[in-house]
Amino acid sequence: MKFFVDTADLGEIRSLAEAGMVDGVTTNPSIIAKTGRNFLDVVREICDLVPGPISAEVAATDYETMLKEGRLLAKLADNVCVKVPLTPAGLRVCRELSKEGTQVNVTLCFSAGQAILAAKAGATFVSPFVGRFDDISTEGMALIADIVQIYNNYPHFTTEVLVASVRHPVHVVQAAKLGADVVTMPPKVVRQMYEHPLTDKGLAAFIADWEKTGQSILGS
Ligand code: E4P
Repeated sequence: MKFFVDTADLGEIRSLAEAGMVDGVTTNPSIIAKTGRNFLDVVREICDLVPGPISAEVAATDYETMLKEGRLLAKLADNVCVKVPLTPAGLRVCRELSKEGTQVNVTLCFSAGQAILAAKAGATFVSPFVGRFDDISTEGMALIADIVQIYNNYPHFTTEVLVASVRHPVHVVQAAKLGADVVTMPPKVVRQMYEHPLTDKGLAAFIADWEKTGQSILGS
């Protein structure tokens, strides 16, 4: 299972990459807007930090402009993955860029039917958004189960299921149980995955007992 981080915060990306927990990065226009910085500069810097796929989203919605934007983004670095919306024009761009050898992430997927279209368009990744379904009291993870099952029925579908809009570690575990290929999550969720009160309690007890021995592993 691959871990992508859903952020454009270079400090966070660097710190999680040092821990070996980043296989790629996803951004979107909202995430880029939060940085207050030039989009292309930010993408170049992230691509230098992490060798895995870095999703950079087009801003246009018409075919011609999206294709131009996608080609420009693809030239920024070898590991750029162009992100396009799941619309008829977006999927046409996906097909074209994929033929040119560019990785494409089809985003804003909210149905299994849409995911089938993304696979047929040759997407590298499809991004179903689980959290936004949960936000409207609908079981987002059911969509992941459907897409994984459907893709498994057709081995010629090479599109990877990239679980997006992840809100907490339970989403990550559920996605893993379903066999999703990738999860993209905010850095906060990666950090939450390390945490367990019994780990903290157990470690405190071990430290206290070790101190009673008066020994030092390195110093004796
Ligand atoms: C995925 O690529 C999206 O950027 C992201 O996961 C959206 O998450 P949100 O619903 O928290 O905005």
